[in-house]
Parts: sequence; C-alpha cells; structure tokens
Amino acid sequence: MILAPSILSADFARLENHVREALDAGAEWMHVDVMDGHFVPNITIGPLIVRALRPLAKATGAVVDVHLMIENPEKYISDFAEAGSDIITVHVEACTHLHRTVQQIKEAGCKAGVTLNPATSVSTLEEILPYVDLVLVMSVNPGFGGQAYIPTSTEKIRTLRRMLDAAGSNALLEVDGGVKATNIREVVSAGVDVVVAGSAVFKGAGTVAENVEALRDAVREWA
Ligand code: DX5
Ligand code: ZN
Repeated sequence: MILAPSILSADFARLENHVREALDAGAEWMHVDVMDGHFVPNITIGPLIVRALRPLAKATGAVVDVHLMIENPEKYISDFAEAGSDIITVHVEACTHLHRTVQQIKEAGCKAGVTLNPATSVSTLEEILPYVDLVLVMSVNPGFGGQAYIPTSTEKIRTLRRMLDAAGSNALLEVDGGVKATNIREVVSAGVDVVVAGSAVFKGAGTVAENVEALRDAVREWA
C-alpha cells in the first residue's frame, strides 16, 4: 500500500517541514488538493505550492500527486506539469473532452489520473480506462478535509478493482476522503493501491510519525 498524505490538512505556516515529517515516517507520495471555488465550494492552492514543494519531493523521491478539483482543468495542466507534478488527476464531471484532457496530461510529461464524485457512476470511466495511469475513488464529496467516509465507496472500489483487472490494466487505484486507522483495512482489502489521508496524518491523536505508523499498523494487522 502506498500512503499519500494530503497536504491540505498540514500546517501551511510550516508546510515543508510538516510534509517532510510524513515522508520521513515512510509515506511515499504527497497528495495536493487544488480547489477553485467553482467546481467545489472551497479555494485552496495552485502551482506555486507544487513548485515550492518540488525540492522536498526531489530530495525524498516522493511522488507529487496533484488532484484538480477545478473547472476547465485543461487550462492549467501545463502550469501544474511545469511546477513539478508527477501525476495529474482530473474529475470526469469537469471534463467535456476527457480523452483529450488525459492526452494533454501525458503530453505534458505526467501520469494521467481520473476521478469521480461519490454520486457519479463507475460506468462513466469505462471508455477512458485503457488510457489512464490512475483511477481515484472519492469517498467524500470533494471540497474539504476531515469529512466522514461514505460507506458505499467500498463497493465502488471493489467494482473498479474488478473493472481494472478485467481490462488487464496496470492503472493504480486510489481512494481519497475520510480514511482513518479504523477503516483503512476495509479500503485496502477492497483493492486500493494508494490511500490518501489528510486529517488522519496531520491532525491525528499523535505525532505525524505516530499517525503514519498507526495507519500502517492497521493494514499490517489485516495482511
Ligand atoms: C477532499 C480532498 C481530500 C481530503 C482528504 O476534497 O480531495 O484529499 O483533503 O482529507 P481527509 O483524509 O481528512 O478526508
Ligand atoms: Zn484529494
């Protein structure tokens, strides 16, 4: 299992050090939540923050996993690619020409991911699956960290796992939203490869290192 701490829940006044704590504790990716106040009811960060975190990513080997919760994402792909993104994920609901946008991400030199809101059917991904490197299941309504996991997401993960396996796809399956030590086993056993965790890592009961360890322990107990 790859752990992708969402920097949205980190302390922005000491962002680099806070994210470094998670990477030092063994997290492999950094998940960057980009929100525009239109596609979702919140405004967060842009390419400048990706660029600012690039030295840390380079030094640690962490993968920069950018989740665009914005309208017209095609307008900003080159900015995020140049800023140092490794993976750029777009929402099916925000892309009229999803295939073109996925091609654009790849032409910009990044891995391409697609994601869907909790109420969007997995069938919307059927045609694009052969072209993507990652599929992200949103297990909360996008917009904020710290929300509760939507229980029906687990069945959605199982369905997507089956779809990817049936297609012989190597795309990674990622889950995002409300994952804690109490339910991480459930999502991993349902078939995800990558787990995003924001509040559980940066706002959990212990230090960041202890919180990362608690997530790993919960998976180990099951494995
Ligand atoms: C929600 C974001 C998530 C969120 C995860 O819109 O895409 O990445 O920050 O945070 P937690 O783990 O706190 O639900
Ligand atoms: Zn996210």
